Formats: sequence, C-alpha cells, structure tokens
Amino acid sequence: MTFARITGTGSYLPERVLSNADLEKMVDTSDEWITTRTGIRERRIAANGETTGDLAFHAATRALEAAGVKASELDAIVLGTTTPDLIFPSTACLLQSRLGANGCMAFDVNAACCGFMYALGIADKFIRAGQTKKALVVGSETLSRMTDWTDRNTCVLFGDGAGAVVLEADKEPGVLTTLLHADGGYADLLYNPVGVSKGFKEDGRHGNTIMMEGNKVFRVAVRALERLVDETIAAANMHADNVDWLIPHQANLRIIRATAERLQLPMDRVVITVDKHGNTSSGSVPLALDELIRTGKVQRGQNLLLEAFGGGFTWSSAMIRY
Ligand code: COA
Repeated sequence: MTFARITGTGSYLPERVLSNADLEKMVDTSDEWITTRTGIRERRIAANGETTGDLAFHAATRALEAAGVKASELDAIVLGTTTPDLIFPSTACLLQSRLGANGCMAFDVNAACCGFMYALGIADKFIRAGQTKKALVVGSETLSRMTDWTDRNTCVLFGDGAGAVVLEADKEPGVLTTLLHADGGYADLLYNPVGVSKGFKEDGRHGNTIMMEGNKVFRVAVRALERLVDETIAAANMHADNVDWLIPHQANLRIIRATAERLQLPMDRVVITVDKHGNTSSGSVPLALDELIRTGKVQRGQNLLLEAFGGGFTWSSAMIRY
C-alpha cells in the first residue's frame, strides 16, 4: 500500500503587521472587542504589488528546501486559493513556472478557507493511486485585496499568508484519511458577490468584498466541526485520545476551543496562530502546521488532526501520522 507522507513544510507571511490598535483608527472597534470575540491581536497585509503567487512562491521554496526535494522532481502542484493572481492561468501554473517545475500537472482549487485541505485531499488520492510520487500542496491568500476596510464586521478578521507542504509516496503512513464536505445551501452567509460570469462588469451594482453573517457562520461552523472531528477519528479507526495535535483552521479562538473541547484535548496540544495571523483562509492550516513542525515539538509517529471550515460552506479534515 502506498501512502502520502509529509516530508517538508514551509510558510510565508508578508512583512506589514496590522494591529488591533491600527484598526481602531480605521473603524469603530476596539482591541478589547476583537480580542475577546476572536482571539486576534494582529494580522499581516501584503505589500502593494505583492500577490498570492508571491506568498506561495516563498512558502513553497521553504517547503521544498525542508523536504530536500528539487522543484524539477515534482509531479503535481495543487494550490488552494480564493484570491488567485489572475483569473487564468491558475496561480499553480504561475508558481510552477517560477519554481522551474515545468511539465508536471498544476491547478488551483477554490474551496474558500478549505482550499488547502481540499488540495491536500486531492494530492493524497493521486499519490495513493500511484500516479504521483512527489506533490507540492500550497494554501495561499491575499484576502486583504477583497476586504472592505470600512466594514468592522469583517475587516478585523482577515489577513494574508501562505503555507506549503511536500508530500511524497511512501510505504509508511502518512496521510491516514482526508474528509471533504460542502453544502452550497449556505452560500449566502459568506461570499463575495463578484465573479466572472456574474457581476464582473456591473460597476456599482455589487461590492467586490467579503459579505458575511458572522454569528450564523459561527454557529454552523462549531456544529459542523464537532461532527467532523468525530467522523475523522472514526474514519482513521482511532479514539479521541489517539490525537496528539489539533491543527485547526484559524478563524476564531472560540471556534477552536469548542473543537478542542469536543476532543477533550488540552489547549497546549492545539496549535494557535490566529492571534498573530488572523484568518488567512487557505493559508491558515499550512501556516499553523509549519509553525508546529518548526518548533520541533511534534515527534515522528504522532497523530495530527487538521481541520477547516469556510465559505460554500465547505468543511474538511485530515488525520496524518507524522
Ligand atoms: N468591533 C466592535 N463591535 C463590533 C464589531 C467590531 N469589529 N463587529 C461587530 N460588532 C458589533 C455588532 O455590530 C453587534 O452590535 P449590536 O449588538 O449593537 O448589533 C455586536 O458587535 C455583536 O455582533 P455579533 O455578530 O453578534 O458578534 P459575535 O459574538 O457573533 O462575533 C464574529 C462576531 C464575526 C467575531 C463571530 O460571529 C465569528 O467569528 N463568526 C465566524 C466568522 C468566521 O469564522 N468566518 C470565516 C469562516 S472561515
């Protein structure tokens, strides 16, 4: 049996820090409100001209270096993003060219904040099927470009960033299971109204920024993630106490705490980056994973539960033996 093993991780954050104190000067909010309701203290914002592809390139380069894999050895690049550099070619193709990995398959996945998790699930299946030996999986976003900086309901939540992993075929696990879910019936609770075949040229009729009913999203997210972690543990033939680390999507500290409670996992086994990164959508889980791995706290053989929830709604998870 062939498994996909993570052999390297990398991440990248833009230099500019936007603190809650900075936001206090932009909208009617307070550090106290943001910290209490979300756990976020600061987030990073891409520089003018710095794109999702730029962030992805730096994260990918670090992941390849950590894995000791050359870009020319890759046979797949799968990139999760909702904020691609261009409508086409895909950001994955632009990244492929910049890395010098020409020839292998490369494509983007849009699953909102689940973009990286969906990309991971897809790459895992290609490796298990024997079609791919070395895959680069990336989550990269510049959500700041579609944030309404005058809307306090949303602008305090999001940030920019990217993370990447190299997956390699191995006889040992590896990715044990991935679960990918969606329910488009919730589309109107979290969306951007502008696309290509809708709203693209209709100036003034639509905003092109994130629209969200935050407290409804919150309630559905908590319930969906509780069900999801139970389902993931069962799919991996495990019990909750087999989970060594939870690497959750970093949207809101209260949502993360609810998931940890469901697993009865102490918070020192839960990776928290939301305080420094805010919600970086597809960048969030691989950024948190890279942070955990680079601290050296995680041991080979430990079980990592990754999960995410996002617009669509989408929700997704992976159980990984590190
Ligand atoms: N600063 C100060 N007050 C704010 C504010 C801000 N930045 N944003 C909203 N408020 C106000 C609201 O206007 C509301 O005021 P009102 O009671 O006078 O109407 C009040 O705070 C409570 O708003 P509510 O939306 O009920 O707060 P909440 O406790 O649900 O927290 C979120 C809001 C957005 C932090 C929370 O709902 C959340 O995190 N939801 C999930 C969002 C998410 O994760 N989205 C991405 C999914 S990937």
